[in-house]
Amino acid sequence: MNVLIIGSGGRESCFAWKLAQSPLLKQLFIAPGNPGMLEYGILVEIAIDDFEKLGAFCIEKNINLVVVGPEVPLVKGIVDYFKSHLNLSQISIIGPDKKGAILEGSKDFSKKFMQKYNIPTAAYQTFDTFSLAKGIKYLENTSAPYVLKADGLAAGKGVIITSDLEVAKQTLSEMISDLKFGDASEKVVIEQFLTGIELSVFVLCDGKNYIILPEAKDYKRIGEADSGLNTGGMGAISPVPFANEAFMKKVEDKIIKPTINGLIIENIDYKGFIFFGLINVNNEPWVIEYNCRMGDPETEAVLPRIKSDLLEILTKVEAQKLNTVSIEFENFAATTVMLVAGGYPNEFEKGDVISGLENVKNALCFHAGTKNNSQKELVTNGGRVMAVTGLGTTLKEALSVSNSAAETIFWKNKNYRKDIGFEFVEK
Ligand code: AMP
Ligand code: GLY
Repeated sequence: MNVLIIGSGGRESCFAWKLAQSPLLKQLFIAPGNPGMLEYGILVEIAIDDFEKLGAFCIEKNINLVVVGPEVPLVKGIVDYFKSHLNLSQISIIGPDKKGAILEGSKDFSKKFMQKYNIPTAAYQTFDTFSLAKGIKYLENTSAPYVLKADGLAAGKGVIITSDLEVAKQTLSEMISDLKFGDASEKVVIEQFLTGIELSVFVLCDGKNYIILPEAKDYKRIGEADSGLNTGGMGAISPVPFANEAFMKKVEDKIIKPTINGLIIENIDYKGFIFFGLINVNNEPWVIEYNCRMGDPETEAVLPRIKSDLLEILTKVEAQKLNTVSIEFENFAATTVMLVAGGYPNEFEKGDVISGLENVKNALCFHAGTKNNSQKELVTNGGRVMAVTGLGTTLKEALSVSNSAAETIFWKNKNYRKDIGFEFVEK
């Protein structure tokens, strides 16, 4: 079959790597992709939200299945576009329609949904321009730390956590009145602060049945020991040591099942990945957020742990046959270290020449922000540049592989965290 992957980051590189291993694959295309993916498929220069061009391309190349990597095209309605065009409606598309993507696209919606279906999540209230004064009062009557979240998509930057009441009040006004995050902060969710260790759980859903993929832990802060600014993710590990059978049973019973049931009751035909951003509070899982896609860099640690043919599994989604799938996992651990441009997540340079990739022996290198310059050199082209995944019988072994690959790859001002997995692995 012919497959199109939409996106250009480390997550999509990893999907390309995994799907290219399937005997069912005839041709793989990636729009727009990056040079690292040339090893697995053909790059197509179409933007991720140019639905018309993507649709026309799918017809031209006889695409049977589309995997949508990032949230933006989903929230903008790529699935609705395909389903509403007769000549595209037969193509399987992995990702929810607009109605389903709202789980990520609106924090207010997802909080209401969780409350309605008794899914454990922090207590909250939503405020807008008409209730700003009430919001300020609410902050005054709540205790620190204060958690403020822009309702809409804000490229991972829309969450502000502060212990300073004045800063919280100021930020709330800036979000709502000055649209600090554009339209995304027209509404703001203020919620109770939860203390615990986070983890990401991924489910593939066909609208009726679901399968649970290996869990992962993402390291979001730029600095070691989880310090400094939030990023898109600086690394990931899988498995997560505390996510044992008993804990994962709670996740399934208290979170996954009620979520899928809720989607069915709300008439949301959800065919795609659901990313549960969870926090372990005294051994009880709570939901921090839903995303309507796989995580990045979690994917780069999760997919290598799937032994089964992922493409075969994805072909079962459209016909709602995931109940017939038995997915097999690898026993080994996978750890991903993200190499980023110096300065990221603030200002950073692009266009620095990358070297040393050929000396990486046993790690998987998933290109994220890379491109070829006019001299055909591989250069940096984003904040997150390269995800390197190590595999090993233990997290420690896997980490030694990913860390040594991280040292081997060079460009000016490369930065990465040397302590991924630090809570679980002795030095
Ligand atoms: P989100 O974009 O909702 O994932 O939030 C970004 C990050 O903020 C999360 O990964 C958490 O580290 C933190 N966070 C969000 N909500 C809460 C909360 N209610 N309590 C504590 N930390 C939170
Ligand atoms: N790594 C977090 C995310 O993909 O949103």
